[in-house]
Amino acid sequence: MALAIVILAAGKGTRLKSSRPKVLHEIGGKPLLQHCIDTALRIVPAADIYIVIGHQSGRVRAAVAASGVQFVEQTEQNGTGHAVQQALKSLRGYENVLVLSGDVPLLRQETVLALRDFHLRERATMTILSAKVSRPFGYGRIVHTAGHSHEVEAIVEQKMLRPGQEQIDEINSGIYAFSVAHLEQHIDSLTADNAAGEVYLTDLAARLHAEHERVLSMPADHPAEILGANTIAEMMELDQTLRRRVAEKHMANGVTIFSPETVVIDADVEIEADTVIEPFVQLRGKTRIAGHCLVRSYSVLENATIGRNTTVRQGCIVLDSEVGADAFLGPYAHLRPESQVGDEVHIGNFVELKRTKMGKGAKANHLSYLGDTEIGAGSNIGAGTISCNYDGVHKYKIRIGEKVFVGSDAVLVAPLTIGDGAYVAAGSCITEAVPEGALALGRARQTTKPGWASRRTSRQPIQGV
Ligand code: UD1
Ligand code: CA
Repeated sequence: MALAIVILAAGKGTRLKSSRPKVLHEIGGKPLLQHCIDTALRIVPAADIYIVIGHQSGRVRAAVAASGVQFVEQTEQNGTGHAVQQALKSLRGYENVLVLSGDVPLLRQETVLALRDFHLRERATMTILSAKVSRPFGYGRIVHTAGHSHEVEAIVEQKMLRPGQEQIDEINSGIYAFSVAHLEQHIDSLTADNAAGEVYLTDLAARLHAEHERVLSMPADHPAEILGANTIAEMMELDQTLRRRVAEKHMANGVTIFSPETVVIDADVEIEADTVIEPFVQLRGKTRIAGHCLVRSYSVLENATIGRNTTVRQGCIVLDSEVGADAFLGPYAHLRPESQVGDEVHIGNFVELKRTKMGKGAKANHLSYLGDTEIGAGSNIGAGTISCNYDGVHKYKIRIGEKVFVGSDAVLVAPLTIGDGAYVAAGSCITEAVPEGALALGRARQTTKPGWASRRTSRQPIQGV
């Protein structure tokens, strides 16, 4: 049976008081709307997902277009019912449609599937995912036909509640299943005749009920899933709930996370079993960590790929970079974007890499900046080595071969190549190519003046003491 999913995402989110459209606010490291799309994609292909956009539609479209979903424009945001009216043209050929709200991001695939199955099994015209909550304020309330726990007579919005209805604790989640034929037949009868002057999708419940159609509610097993966010504070509560859920998933998969409430793990992060995450670590974006790794406190990894059995010591930052297996980073190493370091590499304290590659077993253990540099396997970069890859206008590359030994405090001026097995003397400023196996010295020869200090004090007494 052909099933479409419509996600409502055209609203402004006035209550957030933010210039960013509500559905692009982020929890768990990605926009609210992207969470909804990712859930929808686990149920139907992208070709059957229609996002209703309106407020700052260009920005919303650009943010999620990579998912391959379809878009429907709602130029004026006249309410959720009006939003679905705009999507109707796209729904020809579908028998049923699931309507999700772009600002309800915690909803799980299992719950949407349960709603779909319930709707189909019960041959309902409209099925509302509902929830019993302790603080129903602000939500639409479900009014049942007397004596029926599933049959719905109406959904009443907060602004339209009549005396006594405030007590109703079953709320409308804003997530529904409809039979497309019935939606087509009745949606144009909705009016904006209510307190907000908007076309409420929720009014369809009473409308269909009056036509003796089957309108049902299905309470969600976990009410926390259907909470929306209308303020930044509510959004941060969703973020916490989501992160707890993510951490629990990883722990269930064999990952050890100490003090998980202090650890920030984005929704799409992957971690294999037997990896240990210490308190106050942040794993952002599409970070992937293989098994048997140790990520120590205060490290921030964003879109990082870490190989098996690697140790990331305290306070490292790894951005858009790859690290091999059995490597050691930090403490306080900084891998800037597009760096690629191989297996068994050691990168020590206060070493900064930018777009730099290091071959297997290469080491840069102390106080270095290495930018636009390629370092062959087994090479050793001495303490304090600095690559000068930028002349103020252009960036140039440095190529260092295998098993090269660069002495401490060397300055390597790009463009530059250093051949395999070459040595660079400590304190050198290297501006010319160093051939394979050579020793390059680039510093003034030392002069030593014996007895100079005592001669200086006898001839020139210190002034002004
Ligand atoms: C809606 C429901 C309410 C329910 C709540 C659950 C209505 C009238 N009310 O209220 O019963 O308890 O969700 O979270 O539907 N949108 C559009 N176009 C518009 C207006 C809104 O696309 O013209 C989108 C918004 O971007 C949002 C979603 O629809 O993603 C819900 O709209 P919102 O204004 O947040 O509705 P609520 O007041 O939360
Ligand atoms: Ca809402």
